[in-house]
This record gives sequence, C-alpha cells and structure tokens, in this order.
Amino acid sequence: MPTRSPTPLHPIETASRDEIAALQLERLKRTLAHAYANVPHYRHKFEAAGVHPDDLRTLEDLARFPFTTKADLRENYPFGLFAVPREQVIRVHASSGTTGKPTVVGYTRKDIDVWADLVARSIRASGGCPGDIVHVAYGYGLFTGGLGAHYGAERLGCTVVPMSGGQSEKQVQLITDFKPDIIMVTPSYCLALAEEFVRQGLDPAACSLSIGIFGAEPWTNDMRREIEGRMGLDAVDIYGLSEVMGPGVANECIESKDGPVIWEDHFYPEIIDPETGRVLPDGEQGELVFTSLTKEALPVIRYRTRDITRLLPPTARSMRRMAKITGRTDDMMIVRGVNVYPTQIEELILAEPALAPHYVCVITRPEHLDELTVRVEANPAFGSASAEAAGARLAERMKNLIGVTARIEVLAPGGVERSVGKAKRVIDQRQRSA
Ligand code: DLL
Repeated sequence: MPTRSPTPLHPIETASRDEIAALQLERLKRTLAHAYANVPHYRHKFEAAGVHPDDLRTLEDLARFPFTTKADLRENYPFGLFAVPREQVIRVHASSGTTGKPTVVGYTRKDIDVWADLVARSIRASGGCPGDIVHVAYGYGLFTGGLGAHYGAERLGCTVVPMSGGQSEKQVQLITDFKPDIIMVTPSYCLALAEEFVRQGLDPAACSLSIGIFGAEPWTNDMRREIEGRMGLDAVDIYGLSEVMGPGVANECIESKDGPVIWEDHFYPEIIDPETGRVLPDGEQGELVFTSLTKEALPVIRYRTRDITRLLPPTARSMRRMAKITGRTDDMMIVRGVNVYPTQIEELILAEPALAPHYVCVITRPEHLDELTVRVEANPAFGSASAEAAGARLAERMKNLIGVTARIEVLAPGGVERSVGKAKRVIDQRQRSA
C-alpha cells in the first residue's frame, strides 16, 4: 500500500484572527461594490435601506445592510441576480423548492475553481489524502452535492468514483470491489447502504471505508456514533448550501470532530435572531446568515440560510466553527406552542437500542389542535415487546425533556421510507386535515 500523506494546510487556515479579519474586510468591500454595481436588485435594496457600499468601514457595519432570502432568488428567476454577463457563467445548479420554481445559482470559471479548492480543503480536513479513492454517492445533476464533491476530490488528487445516489445494490458492489477509502453521502443514505451490506450477507464495518463525509441534512452526534459503529469509519460533517456555493462552505476536522469549521476567508458568517433580525453574539443560537467574500457570478449579501446553529471559537483551525445544525426553521414543528426540531427527537430515538435510527415526524390537526406522531422502526435485533417498551419510553422522555406529547408508532423494520439523498423528517398534513 502506498503511504498516505496529507497535503499542507493553506496558510490562512492557521493565520492569526487579525489577518483573517483584514482579509474579510477587504473582500467584503469588494463584494458589496460588485453586487451594487452589477446587480440592479441589490442596488435597489441598498438604496431602499439607505446604505451604500462605501458605508462599510468595519466588519460590524455589515449589519446595516439588508438581508437576502430565497424569495429574492425566486423573484429574479432564473438569472436576474447574476453579477456577470451570462456568457461568463460556465455552470448553473438549481435546487427544487417544495413549491413553484427552483432556485437557480451560477458560477464563473473562477467560482468553480474556488469551490473545488474549498471542497479539497474540506476533504483534507476530514482526513483525506491525495491518492485516496473517493466514492461519491451524493446525487449528480442540478443538486450541488455530486459535482461539488467530485471536483473537490479531483482537486485534492483523489481517484473519484462518481456513483451518484440510488441503486443501493450496485453501490455496495462497487464499494466491495473498488475498496474506496472515503465515502461522501448523506448520513441517512449511508444507513440505507449499511442495511444493503447486511442484506447481501456482508458486514458493513468490514468494508474498506475509513472516512465518511456526511452532510446535506441535519444529523446529530448520536447519529454520528451510530454510523461510525455500523460502518467502522470516522464520520465527519460537511456543510453547505447551493445559494452560498454548495458543499464545502464549512467542514469538520477529523482530529476534533467538534463542528464544521467555516471557511471564513470566503464566507462571512453572522447569527441573527430570526424574529427581529438582530445580530447575536458568538455562542448564541439563532439563524445562520452568510455573505460571500469572493463569488463572482452570484454574490450573496447577508443570505438567510434558515439553519439554526451557534458560532463557536476556533480550535483545530484559526477559523470559527458552527455547532451542528439543530434544524431548519422550515422543519421546526410548533406543537401546541412548543418548538420542536426533528434532531431533538433523533437524539432520544438513538438512546433506545431497541429502536432503529429510521424515523419520520407526522403533524396533523384533526380537532383544531396540532398532533405529532413519530413513526420509528423497531431494531430487528430486539423482540417486538422490547421495541414497544422503548416506544413508550420515547413518548415519556419527549414529554419530560422536550415538553411535547407525541404518539409513537413503532413500525416493523423497513416501515419508514428510505431516501437516496436528503431524508424527509417532517410530513405536515395540517393543510389537508384542517
Ligand atoms: O445540501 C449542499 C450540500 C451537499 C452540503 C452535500 C453538504 C453535502 P442545498 O440542497 O441547497 O445544498 O441544501 C442546503 O441543506 O441550508 C441545510 O439546511 C442542509 N444542510 C446541508 N449540509 C448540512 C449539514 C446542499 N452538514 C441545506 N448539517 C442547508 C445540517 C445541512 N444540515
């Protein structure tokens, strides 16, 4: 076996905070001027808010500028927010919204280059080395996961297997035959692959994979331990969103596994109170907001991600980290006045060995009051009586720890639909039953 040796870190990953802040300020000024000069939508919004790019003298001044939301992208569908002539956009991606038109994003050649560099940096942070075989099971196509991972793995000097999502049987065959070191996949689909190994009479923990780079959906540290145990690998968190770039906006370091490091030389993070829009101090939980610092085709100014998290101090790198995402504001369930995220329920499910980590939350409103049902599978290694008892304990602990009353339906193994990409954790049936 060839010896694996990691590439050196980029100097900015270990630079002083002053150096990082100076670079951010310089790039932020340039980004605001670029957006103002080239995107009528931004110029109008800045003017309506009474601000001009020249008003930004410190990083804190960014708080005076207006937010950007998904609605701004929709209103300017498809190419209205591009800040360069369309001919300079060498690729588009799009995310399918639940309703209406998709959100379209674009990249210049330089944007694609920066993206590849940042995903390469992310794989490096995850423990990947040049020469590693990387099995990419994120979807290829309009979704940024597959191609984003692909270009980054190539950039690091890896051998890429562009498998995409789905075809679980074939995934397992290729993993068995090609012996990849790294898998890049959603955590929920990784669990489905672990089941497919077992179905084929194989032990997933005995496969060649030593690193999993998991993201595109919220997942808890309990889920990390579950996947690491089943697959026999180190599970590392990769974060990103198409509007800001795609995967690789932030990535956890394998040596600390303490939340994704935000690549602050390219993205400026803020945490805001989602109700008031006020900027919150580091450490407080709120909505994550990003301003791009180097993007050419689609600069985003104070983009509201709808992801709930906290900014944490630097550890393994000089850049700040984000706590694991608690959830998306869209997925927050308000059950009789109590706010609940699926990740809170996931933690309690994973504490019950007789339950399997496959679940979905269903909300209905039969009598003008919200009702929450958690459908969760029994772990086939335990008897049905143990699973039922675990379900009853889950209801009890949800009541005591989260403060919500829920009906728990313990289903037979396979009863919860498997996703091949992002898992759908919340089914809201309130419209239909209202
Ligand atoms: O999911 C990009 C991506 C692909 C990230 C592959 C990581 C790996 P979108 O489809 O635009 O882009 O969805 C972005 O997914 O706002 C979060 O709500 C969620 N998300 C992404 N990564 C994580 C993560 C891609 N590590 C939305 N933890 C984001 C929790 C995540 N949620």
